Formats: sequence, structure tokens, C-alpha cells
Amino acid sequence: MSAGSLGYEKNSTLSEEGPLASPLTGLRSQDMDKPKLLIVDDDESILLSMKWAFAQDYQVFLAGSRQDALETFRNERPLLVTLDLGLPPCPQGADEGFLALAGLIEEDPDVKVIVVSGQSDRQNALTAVACGAYDFFFKPIQVEEVRVILRRALRLHQLEKENRLLLAAQVKNSFDELLGTSPKMQQVFSTIEKVAATEAPILISGESGTGKELVARALHGRSQRKAGPFVPINCAAIPETLLESELFGHEKGAFTGAHTQRSGRIELANGGTLFLDEIGDLSLGLQVKLLRFLQEHKIERIGGRKEIIIDTRVIAATNTDLDLAIGEARFREDLYYRLGVIKIQIPPLREREGDIELLAMSFLRRYCAEYKKKVLGITEKGLSSLANHMWPGNVRELENRIRRAVIMVQGRKITHEDLELETSPKSGGMTLREAREKTDRELVLRVLKENNFNLAKSAANLGISRPNLYDLMEKLRIRKEVRNSSPYQ
Ligand SMILES: Nc1ncnc2c1ncn2[C@@H]1O[C@H](COP(=O)(O)OP(=O)(O)OP(=O)(O)O)[C@@H](O)[C@H]1O
Ligand SMILES: [Mg+2]
Repeated sequence: MSAGSLGYEKNSTLSEEGPLASPLTGLRSQDMDKPKLLIVDDDESILLSMKWAFAQDYQVFLAGSRQDALETFRNERPLLVTLDLGLPPCPQGADEGFLALAGLIEEDPDVKVIVVSGQSDRQNALTAVACGAYDFFFKPIQVEEVRVILRRALRLHQLEKENRLLLAAQVKNSFDELLGTSPKMQQVFSTIEKVAATEAPILISGESGTGKELVARALHGRSQRKAGPFVPINCAAIPETLLESELFGHEKGAFTGAHTQRSGRIELANGGTLFLDEIGDLSLGLQVKLLRFLQEHKIERIGGRKEIIIDTRVIAATNTDLDLAIGEARFREDLYYRLGVIKIQIPPLREREGDIELLAMSFLRRYCAEYKKKVLGITEKGLSSLANHMWPGNVRELENRIRRAVIMVQGRKITHEDLELETSPKSGGMTLREAREKTDRELVLRVLKENNFNLAKSAANLGISRPNLYDLMEKLRIRKEVRNSSPYQ
């Protein structure tokens, strides 16, 4: 029997279609968060009664034949399927049902198929379980019994998924806090493994929030210097006038306000690792001094006469394009080669396939524990909005969004509203205007970040006037982000 002749609309859901129902799927927005259930049966009355019984808890899809079932399955990827073994063209036998079962499992080995059979063909039901079905129930259908089976199947599906994520997380935790199963991050891990024990200076580059400091710490933790100090200094965060003394230290009386002698960070990193963050922001004068230190392994404190020999490994990081800075004579090429004997490029989060969900789950566990919240997970729609977001602020943005969602969440699962993400797709389905806006947005954000959100400088870099930049930020919805720049903090 075809879907049409059953008198139901293919892929329709069971909920009463209120004014908010989508004209394409018939789904209302609140249905989207429910798990998907596909019911396969050639008996129209069974389909309809199952539909009404389970619409409250599931997004229900219906199919009347093997072909319909497989097609709907491919389109909707339901987690659960109830499958009548007796399907047309031979509703008395079980062959079509078994073929459908095999097809579904081939499409998704994790799907939970619950087989429906008559009391008389118990043997077929057992064979179906042997072939990979999760469970079976007999006709006439007892709704409450089916409800329990479905709930158990769903729970098992969730546990299996969580287990896979946990296992993956454990494997990757070998780099302390660095998580990542994507090939690009695996590449980063294997480089860390290879170079950590060498003494060579390392230059880490990557967009803001990609984990440059974590990588630097992992390198230190795996080096022979791990018992020594790890001393970070952010060259962009300290005013230039203070940076020299912060790096090299000073003698008492070296300048007004130098009441006592003070060791600089380079000296403090003796025997360990010095992490020079945002190296692209170092002034040309300090670049010369740093280069001298890298060549001679000696420093003099400001106002001092004595040379101090320092044994430290230098790891530098940058989120700006140093090649560009060299081209513009803002960064010394000789220093670049000294620092970047080994280079590690950290990929942006949007290029790490599979890592977003893994990281999201790990942050979810961390912040649920911290804020003592009981959250079961993230809804399917929430997960897909995470997967489709561009993540300009990378892992730090993801961490902040999950933390905020854990604080805000009302229900048992984090929804896409809690994450405050747009649901526009990452690629495909994007109009030319959307694509252009996306590129504009990325460029403007990058320039703003490079200029520490200084509007005058950013406007000059972009070749537009300040009021125009202001308008553009409004149009590209960047102003709000700059105001609540928490994802980038
Ligand atoms: N692979 C990862 N696994 C787990 N947590 C990560 C990972 N990468 C980054 N984080 C987390 O994201 C946040 C940002 O990381 P980190 O400070 O190392 O980034 P960064 O590249 O140095 O950023 P910025 O350019 O802004 O200085 C930190 O809270 C860090 O713990
Ligand atoms: Mg950093």
C-alpha cells in the first residue's frame, strides 16, 4: 500500500498543526527538539493510532512500505524505528520486513529498530533481534508497553552516543586539556609529541581562542623542563612603557618609580619555558632586545651593568599574520626566523570536523559540575546549530556559549535558543547576499580584533570612514558582539 493510499501525508507529524507549523514539514518549532521516530506499517489504522499515541513525545514519521521507510529514514535520520515485518508486496510473509531491517541498519548501525510481529510468528521476531533489531512487540499493540520499549531504546541510544564521546575524549586527553579528534588537531598533537622534548624555539599561530596557550603548556609539560616554571607574558596586554621592565626586569633606581630591584619574566623563566603571547604586538625596539637575548642567552636588567645568563626555552604565539607585518616593516624578519625554528599552526574551530560536539560535551560536563546543574545534554537542533556556526571566537567562544547556556537553561536539555546561535547553514543554501555578508563580517571582525576594537584604526585599515564602519557593524550585527565581547575575552 502506498503512503498516499493510507490517507496520511508522508512525513507528516502527529501534532495538531497550529499556526506556527512549517509549511514544508508540518513541524511546529517546539516539535523540532523531540527525538525522531519512524513508524513502518502497512495497516493504516495502526499507523494512525501509533501516530496519535506518540506525537506527544516524538517527531513521528510514517511509512507504508520498505521503499518509503528507507527514503524517509535517509531524509530524517530518526533514532528509533518501529517496523512491521509484514510489508507489501507480501504482507503475509516477513521477507520485506527483513530487507527493510537490513537496509536501515546498513544506513545507520546505531538505529534502534523495534520489530512488530503477530503472536504466531514469534520465531521471526527472535530472528530479527538476531539480525540487529533492538527489541520486538506483538500485535495487538499495547501502547504503554511500546512506550516503555521506545523510552528504553532511546536511553540506550543516548548512552551509546555519550560513551563514544567519552571514549574519544579520554584518548585525546593525553594532552592534558587539549581535546580534538579531527585530523587537523591530530596533526597538531603529533607535532607536539615530536618537538616538545627539543630545545628549539617554537612559534604557534592561530586565530584568537584556538588554544595557543594550551598548546604552549602542553609543550612545556612534555619537555625536560616540565619541573621548571612556565612563565607567560602577553605582549599586547602590557603598555609598551612597562613591557621592557616586565620582560627584562630592572635595578633599584633605574627609573622613576623603580624603588626596588625586580626580576623580569625572562629571568623568572630560567630553567623553564617563557611563553611570549601576541608577539606581533612587540615594538621594534623591544624586538631588537629580544633578538639579542635569543642569540646570546643573556640579559641585562634595565639600569643594570651585569649580564645574567638565562637558560629558558622560548615559545611565542601570534594571532596576526606575521608575514604581513614583516612586509609592512612592523616585524623583524630575523626575529621571525629565530622564533619560528619550528612552527605550529592551530586550525580554526570551524575546520575541525567532529570536535565541536566533543568540546561542547566536555564544557557541558565541566560547567554543570561547577554550577551544580542537572542538564542531560543538548537537543538535536542545538547540536546542529553548534555544527553550523562559524565560530569567529573559536574554542573560547564555544566554551563561553556553553557556560552561558548552562546558567540560563530551564529544561533538562540545552536548546538552540539557550545557545543564542543563528541557524543559518554553514554552506549550501546560502544566498549570494548571505555569503557576501559572511565574508564582510569575518573581515571586519578580524580587523577590529587586530586593532583591539579601536574603531578609528580599524576604519583606516578597511579604507572606510568611521561612521561607515559604525553603520557596517550595525548591519553585520557586530556591535552587539563587540559590546558583549565575552566570547573573545
Ligand atoms: N583543544 C582544546 N580542548 C579543550 N579546551 C580548549 C582547547 N582549545 C582551547 N581550549 C579552551 O579554550 C580557551 C581558549 O584557549 P587559549 O587561551 O589557549 O586560546 P588562545 O589561542 O591562546 O587565545 P587568544 O588568541 O585569545 O590568546 C581556554 O579556556 C582553553 O582551555
Ligand atoms: Mg592566548
